[in-house]
Amino acid sequence: MKSWGEALGRSLGAQCSRVGRLRRALVLLAAAACTAAALLYWRQQTNEMGRRPMHNMYTGIEPQWTWICRNDRCERMLATETNTLQSLPTCNMLCASTQLWPQPTGPVSLATAAVPVRADSFTLKVIASPSQDVTDHLNDAFALMREDIHILEKATAGETRRSDIGAVQNVLVQVVVNGSGDPRMRLNTNESYKLVLRPFQNKNNLIVDITARSFCGARHGFETLSQLVWLDPYANSLLILEAATVDDAPRFSYRGLLLDTSRNYFALPEILRTIDAMAACKLNTFHWHVSDSQSFPLRLDSVPQLAQHGAYGPGAIYTMDDVRTVVRRARLRGIRVLLEVDAPAHVGRAWSWGPAAGLGHLAYCVEVEPWSAYCGEPPCGQLNPRNPHVYELLEHIYAEIIRVTGVDDLFHLGGDEVSERCWTQHFNDTDPMELWLEFTRRALKALEAANAGKMPELTLLWSSRLTRTPYLERLDSKNVGVQVWGASRWPESRAVLDAGFRSVISHVDAWYLDCGFGSWRDSSDGHCGPYRSWQQVYEHRPWTEEAPPPGGEASPWRVEGGAACQWTEQLGPGGLDARVWPRSAALAERLWSDRTEGAAADVYLRLDTQRARLVARGVRAAPLWPRWCSHNPHACL
Ligand SMILES: *[C@@H]1O[C@H](CO)[C@@H](O)[C@H](O)[C@H]1NC(C)=O
Ligand SMILES: *[C@@H]1O[C@H](CO)[C@@H](O)[C@H](O)[C@H]1NC(C)=O
Ligand SMILES: *[C@@H]1O[C@H](CO)[C@@H](O)[C@H](O)[C@H]1NC(C)=O
Repeated sequence: MKSWGEALGRSLGAQCSRVGRLRRALVLLAAAACTAAALLYWRQQTNEMGRRPMHNMYTGIEPQWTWICRNDRCERMLATETNTLQSLPTCNMLCASTQLWPQPTGPVSLATAAVPVRADSFTLKVIASPSQDVTDHLNDAFALMREDIHILEKATAGETRRSDIGAVQNVLVQVVVNGSGDPRMRLNTNESYKLVLRPFQNKNNLIVDITARSFCGARHGFETLSQLVWLDPYANSLLILEAATVDDAPRFSYRGLLLDTSRNYFALPEILRTIDAMAACKLNTFHWHVSDSQSFPLRLDSVPQLAQHGAYGPGAIYTMDDVRTVVRRARLRGIRVLLEVDAPAHVGRAWSWGPAAGLGHLAYCVEVEPWSAYCGEPPCGQLNPRNPHVYELLEHIYAEIIRVTGVDDLFHLGGDEVSERCWTQHFNDTDPMELWLEFTRRALKALEAANAGKMPELTLLWSSRLTRTPYLERLDSKNVGVQVWGASRWPESRAVLDAGFRSVISHVDAWYLDCGFGSWRDSSDGHCGPYRSWQQVYEHRPWTEEAPPPGGEASPWRVEGGAACQWTEQLGPGGLDARVWPRSAALAERLWSDRTEGAAADVYLRLDTQRARLVARGVRAAPLWPRWCSHNPHACL
């Protein structure tokens, strides 16, 4: 084994001119990659890890298979056919493709050799931080990363036999954050980070330098670092690449996952696990569609009546402490919690206590029949836009949401699928569209008041008739944006963008994860299908379909990003993970990397690895394919 010093002594030029032979250089920016590659020592796999006999995790049963890297591919062989024994994860990590997910957008160089490591060998040193708050968050986020690695380690059969695999490394992670002193994920948070992993002094020490502009960027760096660590089941040890550089930043600033907890309830551990899985894929917005006409599980301190009248029962309620727990975990994972209480439609029994409380009708058409005349799915219900108490209550709700989530630059008002017929029945003197506009204006006013007199920088509405001409123009594009969920017929989204509104894309025909499970009502009208495969999720790239407006004078389109939507009419806790993962991971790479290629071979391989990571962390993600294909990936591609 050659030493690091020798490696650095090698000619830089020679490395750069032979980039094609470097098996793992992903050259995105040739010059930068050259520099990065030059800093690294590229080495074929050592045979240190592949010696036999091994103390493997499958006590008493010798591994049947071994993988060798041949022509940039991992090939499976019978262990008896060769005298090196290499596990599939190790072969994947050391063979041709990078195994990072999402694919970084800047230059990446990864060594092709690994060294053993343990979860407790990682220590953090905060070299520079703009605030105590950021420092505290770095410490706590680092502890979470170590826990993630520790979970892998717990899968080993017992104490690692040091004599088998060589000395265990100490890994010193040095972090510099130069930028925002606010650890929250904000609209203007710079999420870029740079990671350099290298041996230090002697080969028992690794140094990782992570530099970032924000806590969130540094945290993404931790996540990438954790992806350079894996469990080798044959060596019965964790391994880490011995050198790496990654320069990375996301393409879109809004990378979301919506979970609906109204149609069916999901207990806290399910939500926390979803947050963890999101973080593993560098998604940054947990859009919590907490209430709808079916149930209102959020027990607000300011308006407890809503949960009292709207929740399914005592076992299906989120206390504000629960929400704080979610927000806390999300914060440390670089994720904002966007808590949406939908209005004025998509409300139900939760709002039916007005008359008894002397507040008059807060809502109309609650559970009215025939439902199909008044709403998209039973039960119906719509707020009373002419009752001033409605806006007072909304102000309380909004204030509490902002307080508990700490998100005050971004808000979601809901606002889709208003039944004109319902309002017409009660207010036949007014065009229901005018009522809808009036409601939206007054709700925005309530929001402003709830947010200490300041409009959030961006308030999202679901796309609807209100966000089309001629009503769209009457909204203020300065602080209102549209979450476009209609079919990806681009014109609808385009009109929103051409009019200068910022948008978040959630096209139903690509990013609705609930579709394809048939109808849950006796009539099948309106159900959503077919199933959107991970490849469809991945390949949806609507912003490329047409060029921005000609002339170049109009302001450029403002696509903030996108979100996958998991509505839960037909989903409960037991099925959550496999429904959402790995498809949301596919979305995460679309929004982080936005590579122009579709689901190419390397995407299958990397996503398979990412899926295995999620599974190792306790997320029951669906398999991409038969396990045989993981064993023989190129035979399935
Ligand atoms: C922090 O970033 C600014 C540029 O925004 C730069 O001028 C400054 O030198 C940096 N400070 C450190 C300590 O790197
Ligand atoms: C984020 O910070 C990086 C590193 O300083 C810089 O190169 C990049 O331009 C910044 N991104 C934005 C959107 O400001
Ligand atoms: C409007 O509603 C009122 C009271 O419900 C009713 O008397 C009146 O006839 C209605 N007008 C129309 C045009 O439907």
